[in-house]
Amino acid sequence: MSVVIVVGAQWGDEGKGKVVDILAEKAEAVVRYGGGANAGHTLVIGGRKLVTHLIPSGVLHPGKACVLGDGMVVDPQTLLEEIAACQDRGLLAGGELKVGEGAHVILPYHRLVEGLREEQRKAIGTTRRGIGPAYEAKVARRGVRIRDLFRPARLRELVTQNVDELSPLILHLGGTPPTASDQATWVDEALAAGERLRPFVCDTSRWVHDAIVAGKHVLFEGAQGGLLDIDHGTYPYVTSSSTIAAGACQGVGIGPSKIDKVIGITKAYATRVGGGPFPTELHGDAGENLRKAGGEYGATTGRPRRCGWLDLPALRLGVRLSGMDGLALTKLDVLGGLPEVSACVAYKLDGRELDELPQDPDDVARAEPVYASWPGWGPIGDARTIDALPDPARRYIDAIERLAGVPFTMVSVGADRAETILLRDAF
Ligand code: IMP
Repeated sequence: MSVVIVVGAQWGDEGKGKVVDILAEKAEAVVRYGGGANAGHTLVIGGRKLVTHLIPSGVLHPGKACVLGDGMVVDPQTLLEEIAACQDRGLLAGGELKVGEGAHVILPYHRLVEGLREEQRKAIGTTRRGIGPAYEAKVARRGVRIRDLFRPARLRELVTQNVDELSPLILHLGGTPPTASDQATWVDEALAAGERLRPFVCDTSRWVHDAIVAGKHVLFEGAQGGLLDIDHGTYPYVTSSSTIAAGACQGVGIGPSKIDKVIGITKAYATRVGGGPFPTELHGDAGENLRKAGGEYGATTGRPRRCGWLDLPALRLGVRLSGMDGLALTKLDVLGGLPEVSACVAYKLDGRELDELPQDPDDVARAEPVYASWPGWGPIGDARTIDALPDPARRYIDAIERLAGVPFTMVSVGADRAETILLRDAF
């Protein structure tokens, strides 16, 4: 039995989908624990593209349970669309999907509030999926949970309470508060969606616990990355959930003693979507070339991602926050075409050298990245062992391992499942 958490070590989009897909081969269940449809995985099956936002990346393996834990915020319509897209491809045909009855529900008024706020401030650059307002409702103890979709009277009462509380805010933000008829429509739609989701809904905390106790391999799939964590990320430029490994226990409802391993994922460079500090960001042609080479456009919003050099002090922070035992390095091939590759190895601030990204935003703004460089290494898509990699690529990997302080479990040298160097067994 082995329970492994897979978590992003940067600002999201590290390539978790591919790594989870590979590890899912040996797992009985793949479990999401936080966030919602702000995440996005592009999966290619038989030449057809499937983009999932809520359903875990284990979906490509028939018979593996795909679990949406209670810590998630779920838009029922998006989930139904995803289920239909999966079933259209012959996936999720055998009761694999399990949806936590305690997960919170995203309703149209969450997206309305978020859209208005983004128009006013734009600073955070959220995915506009209503994630933040749904978590706000949860913490305010007026959230709608999946199990409320089967209780019409309670659902109606909660929607009214939420709209009453949000209407002054909506007006303040320049919007039009929802009418009674809007609310009635939303309730009817949510109840209808609930009926269609009912066969998948269960006590996922108990289900996952029982699977672990029965000796099954269970994989927890983190969403976003540790540096977008609500408590420990680059606040306020973060998402609204706990994206670090500890979030898995909290979000699913299992104890930390059940976890065996934490595998982090880092891209060979760095990207970020939306606002917030990004000290190694490349601007102009350099950033654009990396964006094109890596296909760095959001799977959820299509937004161009900000691109830059690998930030090892930021990676060290990601590794520490999640207590990672191993790392998967992705997109090493993307850097191969460059004449020279750089990475930030430390920061200088007020005459001191820092080995982690500072936490205070003012310090981040003043800290000066210290770079090291390596010559480019050319195409590496055919490499299946570390020894098959050109010398500069090996030295780059060694430097990351040394500065991050954990060994690599796998190195990805292309988008295809086969384009991977496997170094250690995750389970
Ligand atoms: P929210 O999660 O939509 O509230 O967005 C908050 C911040 O997290 C924004 O900067 C988003 O761009 C970022 N974010 C949310 N989800 C992802 C993701 O899956 N990958 C990368 N960034 C994300």
